Amino acid sequence: MTSENYYKRFKVVIGTPLWRLYLRWVYQKGIDDLEKLNLQPNFSKKDFTCLLCGVGNETTADEFIKFILKKNNNPRIIIIDIGKYQIEAVKKLVNDKYKTLRITIKQIDVLKLTTFIKEKSIDWIETDGFLEYFDKQSLNQLIDIWEKTLRLTGFITFRDCFNNNPIDRFIDKVRIQVAKKWLSVITYSHSKTEMADLYKLKGFRFITKPTIIPTFLRYTAVRNNPYKL
Ligand SMILES: C[S@@+](CC[C@H](N)C(=O)[O-])C[C@H]1O[C@@H](n2cnc3c(N)ncnc32)[C@H](O)[C@@H]1O
Repeated sequence: MTSENYYKRFKVVIGTPLWRLYLRWVYQKGIDDLEKLNLQPNFSKKDFTCLLCGVGNETTADEFIKFILKKNNNPRIIIIDIGKYQIEAVKKLVNDKYKTLRITIKQIDVLKLTTFIKEKSIDWIETDGFLEYFDKQSLNQLIDIWEKTLRLTGFITFRDCFNNNPIDRFIDKVRIQVAKKWLSVITYSHSKTEMADLYKLKGFRFITKPTIIPTFLRYTAVRNNPYKL
C-alpha cells in the first residue's frame, strides 16, 4: 500500500516535464563538481557501471538512462527500489525502450545491496530524495554499503533535505508530516553537520550546493584518495 500510494501520488511531481529538466540539470551539475574534486571519471570505458538507488518512478529511470547513454553507448546500469510499483513501472519502460541495453532492475532494500552487487564494482551511484528515508543508524549503514560497492575512482551524487538552523528544522517537520499524510511514507530529518561528519568518517570528500528548493541540497562525493588506495 505504501509503495502504491507513493508511486501514484508522487507521480504528479516526478512524472512531469519540469522534473525531467530538473534531473538533467542536477546530473550535469554533479558531473561538473567532479572537476572541482579533482576526479576525471572515464565514462566511456567498457565496463562503466552506474547504480540508480531508489528510482521512484520511470521518468527518473528514463532521464538517467538517456544521460548515461550520451557518455557511453553500452554502459551497465543497475536500478533498484524497495517498492513494487516503482520497479514494475521501470521494467515496463526498459522493456519498451531500452531492451537491448545492459540494465538490471531489482526490487530490493538498498541495505541488502551487497547480496547481489560485487564490492568495488560501481562507478557512479546516483539518487534523489532518498537519504531522508533513513534514520541516523540506517543512514550510517547506507553510506557503508555505498562505500563498499563503489570503485576506488567512483563517485556519488544525490540531492536531499538537510537542516542547518531552526527555520530549516521547521521546514523539515512540515515535510515529514506531508510525506506521512500524503505519501504514506516515514521520513527523517538530518543536519548538514551530521552528513558532513558521516562522509568524513567513511573516507569521502564532497561538495555541497543549494538547489532552488529550501533545505534541499546537492552533494557530490569522491573518495579521499581515489588514485592512491
Ligand atoms: C523520493 S523517491 C526517489 C525519487 C527518485 N530517486 C528520483 O530521482 O526521482 C524515494 C524512493 O526510494 C525508495 N526507497 C525507500 N527506502 C528504500 C530502501 N531502503 N531501499 C530501496 N529503495 C528505497 C522508495 O520506494 C521511493 O521510490
